[in-house]
Amino acid sequence: MKTPVRVAVTGAAGQIGYSLLFRIASGEMLGKDQPVILQLLELPMEKAQAALKGVMMELEDCAFPLLAGMVGTDDAEVAFKDADVALLVGARPRGPGMERKDLLLENAKIFTAQGAALNKVASRDVKVLVVGNPANTNAYIAMKSAPDLPAKNFTAMLRLDHNRALSQLANKAGVAVGDIEKLVVWGNHSPTMYPDYRFATVKGESLKDKINDAEWNANTFIPQVGKRGAAIIEARGLSSAASAANAAIDHIRDWVLGTGDKWVTMGVPSDGSYGIPEGVIYGVPVTCANGEYTRIEGLPVDDFSRAAMDKTLAELEEERSGVAHLLG
Ligand code: NAD
Ligand code: LMR
Repeated sequence: MKTPVRVAVTGAAGQIGYSLLFRIASGEMLGKDQPVILQLLELPMEKAQAALKGVMMELEDCAFPLLAGMVGTDDAEVAFKDADVALLVGARPRGPGMERKDLLLENAKIFTAQGAALNKVASRDVKVLVVGNPANTNAYIAMKSAPDLPAKNFTAMLRLDHNRALSQLANKAGVAVGDIEKLVVWGNHSPTMYPDYRFATVKGESLKDKINDAEWNANTFIPQVGKRGAAIIEARGLSSAASAANAAIDHIRDWVLGTGDKWVTMGVPSDGSYGIPEGVIYGVPVTCANGEYTRIEGLPVDDFSRAAMDKTLAELEEERSGVAHLLG
């Protein structure tokens, strides 16, 4: 039997938490032979703690053989103690008519406190995925608040955008979603993100050649992927939850267990490549092996792509200056 992995999840009694925890405990994230200990954080309010207790009762009632332990708490230092993986989900979601960056000041404080708690008590190898919006800037805040942890441990979730783009492309080209490789989503998890299928292939053949429709790319595909979150809110009255949880599982599974040569999109601190200033948490294509991600380097950037990549960068820089006062 393997040693259990400690997985911390914040906002554990929320919508995404409810779609996430049962799949982690059943082995879908870290493997069907990997026991896990769930360390669950919720707000101290009675209602949140009662809801968390209910979720933990349900987890218990599933009798998952891989669930080696559970902790429910309102104290970040308890939730993050020795955590190997930390899924930072807990934050306010946006409602109809809002942009994710409207949540910035309200949610930013959560990530300074949680970054500091991770810094103090988490495993030095902790893999952090920020889901709470605005995800890239919250990941930046958490990273800056955890100076003793390697910056590369902090990532933001662009995988939902990656998955959304894959489905749109598969529909357009009439191909199986699982046959599409080498898709990229550059930048911020916001409407400025740039889903880019210039390098994508289907069974080794160029997907761009199959679609060959610049008008559809610029005026349908890119805005549809960028505004999909708002379309879900409009339709459901609530923001995406099951698809967000699914993307979080994909992100961590690939990071921990590896991707082979398959490209996936992760929001990671920039190393300065592609003209993105160092440290900005920006969606880039990566492959993963041995618990580490490696950027796909050297992709050509044409004029259309440069403009799109710079636009999403400008938004990230604006968000970053909006929270600079919180980071000292
Ligand atoms: P929700 O309101 O259903 O749940 C959030 C939970 O977090 C609540 O139970 C709340 O009590 C808890 N919480 C709030 N502040 C907390 C804190 N400081 N510590 C611990 N727990 C805290 O919301 P949700 O639908 O689960 O969404 C959560 C976040 O994820 C939102 O910010 C949402 O916008 C974001 N989101 C991101 C993506 C993405 O692709 N990055 C996708 C979907 C949703
Ligand atoms: C999404 O993309 O579905 C989430 O970020 C939720 C939102 O606010 O759009």
